[in-house]
Amino acid sequence: MELFDTHAHLNAGQFEAILPDVIQRANDAGVTKVTVVGCTAEDSQTAIDIAEQYDGVFASVGIQPNYVSEANEGDYEKIVELAKQPSVIAIGETGLDRYWDRAPFELQQEYFAKHIQLSISTGKPFIVHMRECGDDILDSLKPFTGQTPLKGIMHSFTGDAELAVKCMEFGLHISFAGMLTYKKSDDLRAVAATIPLDRLLVETDCPYLSPHPKRDQRPNEPALVRLTAECLAEQKKVSLEEIAQITTANACKLFGLS
Ligand code: NI
Repeated sequence: MELFDTHAHLNAGQFEAILPDVIQRANDAGVTKVTVVGCTAEDSQTAIDIAEQYDGVFASVGIQPNYVSEANEGDYEKIVELAKQPSVIAIGETGLDRYWDRAPFELQQEYFAKHIQLSISTGKPFIVHMRECGDDILDSLKPFTGQTPLKGIMHSFTGDAELAVKCMEFGLHISFAGMLTYKKSDDLRAVAATIPLDRLLVETDCPYLSPHPKRDQRPNEPALVRLTAECLAEQKKVSLEEIAQITTANACKLFGLS
């Protein structure tokens, strides 16, 4: 069985000293592929450095919406340059966030549009962070309607079934993280049951939000994506092996990996 953790922040400081063990545990758990996701120009570079060190580890480069205010002059241009690297298979994370008030919303929208454009020009899918702003995400996608299907991922999805349908109409995939496994997440599990198998992905979004029953484990790590995959398999009424095969194939196809 092979699993693909499509969203891991192995470039976070918590992992620096333990990374070889974390990768080993991932491989032991059948997690053979991981996308390390950048939130700033600096840690996008770190994501690439990690991807270049380990087989099956890839990088995504971008400036996350909560960091766009802190971006220095030239940081976005650096992302554009980094996006050309062979280990870079995706753009982001990007998106919009109305929960934290860390960056003016208009500036977030401006960066989101630039990341989508970079995705289109590179052919590498964009990774969307969404917090309390589903309709705004759809509004940002609309100008690109003429260029659909877009290639992208709604990461750590927590929206409703209606929003998922609208995102999928734009061509996007829906990725579930550990929150899917939480006792209080009946509504989210019901949403997951409605997503067609060919649009599903799994991720940890580590170091945060470890899945149940390892919720107390800090940091979360790619090996634990198996727990989310198990939960997703239950919702889709298929075996863990099938959901692993399907979500890994979906991810490989989307990221352009064989
Ligand atoms: Ni993330």
